[in-house]
Amino acid sequence: MRNEILNLLTSRPGKYISGEAISQNLGITRAAVWKQIQVLRESGYDIEAQTKNGYRLAKTPLSLEEWVLKRGLETKTLGREIHFFEELPSTNDYAKTLIRQGVQDGAVILAQRQTEGRGRMQRAWESPEGGIWMSIILKPHLSLADAAKLTLSTGVALARTCRKLYGLDIQIKWPNDLVYRGKKIAGILGEVVGEWNTVQTLILGVGINANLERADLPSTLPATTFKEELGQLINLNDLVIAFLEALETEVESLEEGDIDGLRARWLTYAAGLGKEVQVERAGHVFKGILKGISTSGELILEENHQELLFSSGDVKLRTSEGYI
Ligand code: ATP
Ligand code: BTN
Repeated sequence: MRNEILNLLTSRPGKYISGEAISQNLGITRAAVWKQIQVLRESGYDIEAQTKNGYRLAKTPLSLEEWVLKRGLETKTLGREIHFFEELPSTNDYAKTLIRQGVQDGAVILAQRQTEGRGRMQRAWESPEGGIWMSIILKPHLSLADAAKLTLSTGVALARTCRKLYGLDIQIKWPNDLVYRGKKIAGILGEVVGEWNTVQTLILGVGINANLERADLPSTLPATTFKEELGQLINLNDLVIAFLEALETEVESLEEGDIDGLRARWLTYAAGLGKEVQVERAGHVFKGILKGISTSGELILEENHQELLFSSGDVKLRTSEGYI
């Protein structure tokens, strides 16, 4: 009913539609129409009412709304199937359940909050209400080695989208964090599902500290949020739509084999590039200059005129930009 009213309200963009017309179209009373309008208003839809003309949708909400997402998305596959929840333990875990049941390529899972959000190496990921906690299921036409590069593609798509929408100098901290002025603002967790020799399915988990107050996250974390940095709430639907469109372009470009292009784009966003950084692996600290990433996505560190390669695994990168 909710979606049907929204569809009617937008059937003639910018124009009013009478309560009578809605009531006849949907076979409900005028009072029921009024009640549904109130419910929509409570969800953040700005609906104007004029006694003579009826109702008009003036503005959609900033918070995530399945109807707004579906209406705005212009992708071919990403987000064509959306699973939307108020709360989940983890969208990545739910993605695994869906994959077992059979799910469309590009399906997206979104939760308003997660109770057991995870980062790499099973680290806890704080996911209170106001953030974007999502997983994208992909069945790409890629070898396993190239499919693993999709976490880099995701970083590029998200960094580009955030820079374009908010003008913030967002950087990618290898391998999977988005940082702003050295503080983590988003994280990416890529997981491969499937056996060798079968069609690989990938889960791209993306967590964005969007409309959170800084105080919603533990004060000990070197983290920030878009709300904190911009001093205002952002439109979560616009962000998800623009990001999925950018990601689809990146996936297509990787499927066309443009690995050098991906690497070049990734490097334009890389935090600490050409600077002295520290890489910690199994308790051992390597100090050197961050030279870039290899074609397979490993980090290249120059230490005493020697190039060392690190694959993401349990490796921690520390840049001098305050990220600890
Ligand atoms: P690396 O520097 O190698 O990425 P990391 O310590 O940042 O390592 P990740 O697995 O990338 O580890 O991310 C998980 C960590 O991120 C958690 O251990 C916690 O410190 C931090 N964290 C948890 N929730 C959030 C959040 N919403 N925003 C920013 N940081 C968070
Ligand atoms: C990291 O920086 O370690 C990655 C964090 C990834 C968090 C996202 S939130 C949506 C998805 N579900 C999870 O449990 N984790 C990812």
